[in-house]
Amino acid sequence: MKALVVANWKMHPSTFREAKKLLEETKKAAEKYKVPVVVAPPSIFVRELVSTSRGKRVAFAVQHAHFENEGAFTGEISIAHARDAHVTHVLIGHAERRARGETDEDIAKKVAAALQFGLTPIVCIGEEVRRPGGEYFAQISTQLRTALGGLPSSHLSRVLIVYEPLWTIGADHAMSPHEMHQMSIFIRKTVVDMHGDIGLKMKILYGGSLNAENTLPMLQDGDIHGLLVGRACLDTVEFTKLLKAVSDA
Ligand code: PGA
Repeated sequence: MKALVVANWKMHPSTFREAKKLLEETKKAAEKYKVPVVVAPPSIFVRELVSTSRGKRVAFAVQHAHFENEGAFTGEISIAHARDAHVTHVLIGHAERRARGETDEDIAKKVAAALQFGLTPIVCIGEEVRRPGGEYFAQISTQLRTALGGLPSSHLSRVLIVYEPLWTIGADHAMSPHEMHQMSIFIRKTVVDMHGDIGLKMKILYGGSLNAENTLPMLQDGDIHGLLVGRACLDTVEFTKLLKAVSDA
């Protein structure tokens, strides 16, 4: 099965007109190489982008959402809003949201809310720094246990985990496929400890400084089911090459 690619547009582009163009190019590339892509645009654009999009290959995510349906939370959007806009996925706990105060406990509530509303949670985990002592394993374990520990095991197949350590986001290099392979094993083992053998089927994605060159080796040797792409999804030439690499893997 082809890997899934999540295109995280972050706070780009600055106009709706550019967003429409970027989506058109993204859809073209996704169709050409038959790669499933989940586009996560700024939420103010999402409803209209969804309504103008008829392709089968592209689905939509919001980049974050509150766990309450509605309430006095100025500036927030809810998972209920996302569902109402026909969005199917929600990014939860991206490092740039965690840096703004999102906690593991918030993330757990959002995962439960997303599942309740029938959206696919794309849960981001990852350490800030990696020291030779290996403390980051404990941090990853805590993030996973808090996010997934309270879920019924039968819901795990509806969750996507993205491993994206902070030191690879917006950096010069991705991590090596070998390091990712080790982390995939650790993630699955941690989920198996919590939920039993269903954890062996956990869908794991990698994110952080992916581009057209490092995508193929990462998919071949990283033991992953997909990718979360930041900068490279804004450059349509680069992203088209990246999707070609996904289809070659
Ligand atoms: P990057 O961003 O691909 O630009 O490193 C990844 C991410 O933050 O999702």
